[in-house]
Amino acid sequence: MTQEGRIAEICEIHAGREGPLLPILHDVQAELGCVDAAAEMQIANALNISRAEVRGVVSFYHDFSAEPDPRPVVQICRAEACKARGVEALMPSASAAAGERVRIDTVYCLGLCSVGPNARIGDDLHARLNGERLTRLIENA
Ligand code: FES
Repeated sequence: MTQEGRIAEICEIHAGREGPLLPILHDVQAELGCVDAAAEMQIANALNISRAEVRGVVSFYHDFSAEPDPRPVVQICRAEACKARGVEALMPSASAAAGERVRIDTVYCLGLCSVGPNARIGDDLHARLNGERLTRLIENA
C-alpha cells in the first residue's frame, strides 16, 4: 500500500472521534517514522483544517518529526519531581553517552514521579536512574 493510501486509512479509522488530529498523527508517526509535508497536507485535507494547524501540532510535540530519524530515542523526564531527584545533574553525561548515535528527547512526566529520575526507551520505563544506569541505558539503546 502506498503512503497516501495508508494515511487515508488512518484518517478514516479516527474520523468519527472527537479530536482526531493527535491520534492520527501518532499513528502516522508510528507507521511511517515521520509526519512529512505531504502527510501534513493530506491529514489537513481529510480533517478540513489548514496545513498550518497540522504543522503547528507536529512542531509543538516532541513525539512527531517532519523527517525520518533512524536513531534510537531515549526520553528523559525533566519535569519537577525528576528535577527534584537530580535529573539535571545526569544530563551532561547522558548527552556525552548519546553523542550523535542516540537521540535524547526531553519529556515532562512519565507518571513515575516518586521513583525518578526516569527515562523511557520504546515502551520500557526505567526508574531510579543514576548516572551509571542512565549511561548504560543510552549505550545499549
Ligand atoms: Fe518525572 Fe513525573 S516528574 S516522572
